[in-house]
Amino acid sequence: MTKGFSTEAVHAGEPDRQYMDSITTPIVLTSSYTFTNMDDVLDYVTKKVDRFEYGRYGNPTTAVLIKKLRELEGAEDAEVFDCGMTSVSCALLGLTQNGDHIILTDDAYKKTLMFCEKVLPRFGIETTIVKMGDYDQMEDVLKRRPGTRIVLSESPTNPYLNIADMDILRSLRERFGFVLIVDSTFASPYNQRPLEQGADIVLHSATKYLGGHNDILAGAALGSKALIEQIRDYRNTTGGIVDPVTSYLLLRGLKTLAIRMERLNANATAVAKYLESHPHVRRVYYPGLPSHHDHERARKYMRGFGGVVTFELEADLKCTLDFLSNMKLFKIGPSFGGVEALVTHPMTISYYDYTPEERRRLGILDELVRMSVGIEDPEDLIADIDQALHKAVTRHRISPRVSQPGV
Ligand SMILES: Cc1ncc(COP(=O)(O)O)c(C=O)c1O
Repeated sequence: MTKGFSTEAVHAGEPDRQYMDSITTPIVLTSSYTFTNMDDVLDYVTKKVDRFEYGRYGNPTTAVLIKKLRELEGAEDAEVFDCGMTSVSCALLGLTQNGDHIILTDDAYKKTLMFCEKVLPRFGIETTIVKMGDYDQMEDVLKRRPGTRIVLSESPTNPYLNIADMDILRSLRERFGFVLIVDSTFASPYNQRPLEQGADIVLHSATKYLGGHNDILAGAALGSKALIEQIRDYRNTTGGIVDPVTSYLLLRGLKTLAIRMERLNANATAVAKYLESHPHVRRVYYPGLPSHHDHERARKYMRGFGGVVTFELEADLKCTLDFLSNMKLFKIGPSFGGVEALVTHPMTISYYDYTPEERRRLGILDELVRMSVGIEDPEDLIADIDQALHKAVTRHRISPRVSQPGV
């Protein structure tokens, strides 16, 4: 990146002169690209001329998107997908073969865990799940399973926003020679650039911060040319491409990534501080708060701490559900990273089909709430939480906590 992040977000990848002198990159809606004559075809196949051939292998709008993402993440190469899960599945299947072994952290996105535990074994690929943050356990597994092909960690993770120790991961990677993949969806390239901290591949659900407007699904994988080529070959064979209209919307979203992230970082910090001081909040998980267990790591690796805040109410399940229903500005729904404030109740929305025992093991408490602030005014976000909480605790006659916040 030669210029500042905001400048690159607006201009990187965009050609100097666009079609018909337009300022924006056009949406090229075509499934196929034609050749002038057979000499043109022969040039293409024999000299590997750089041009488009067929929609599954590339598109001019998508190509600009890829260039912009590459700049923003500081990657040699990138590929985009129809959603974040396709970036996960294509990266894992594109870089492995029958007999390979993968290590995954236990607080990974639920479907990533399911993919590794249920789908990959059908292809002879085994996954060992290790506790997030327990790098001794990871080292033991690496010693027991020499030739482990991939270590996949997210950072920050959901819902407790644990932060990966990139220095330890980098040194394990140097000793054991695996491909280090970091799903950086919860950070975005504005807040963290894992490729500069030792990762080989960075993944994003671009549905979240990168798109930023809760209106598209997309995914991205970024890293070295050699690794991305393998992932691209797999994707070109199986599908999972981003359509040109979505590419355009993602390009447009990326232009405001820096200012959106600055606002989301600031809003989430304000909300987290407010929650931490609230007598009906037992505990707040936000990596920007000094009380967060991974605060020092977050400060080391991130320039901002994101728009997601998780907390436990000093309340029971009924009161917690009532609190969510009372919210007006925050809409109830999964996902995060958009301009609109969203609130989710992990126990019901994401883990309802789990047994209470499984939920307890994962730390999904009845009174756990995860918020994704939007770019609204912070005073309005706080006022909405305040009124919803006041109504709920009054109705359910819940006493405030007696301990100090975060204890
Ligand atoms: C960390 C992480 N990775 C991957 C995904 C999957 O992304 P998508 O929903 O775009 O397929 C998600 C979705 O929430 C996620 O949180």
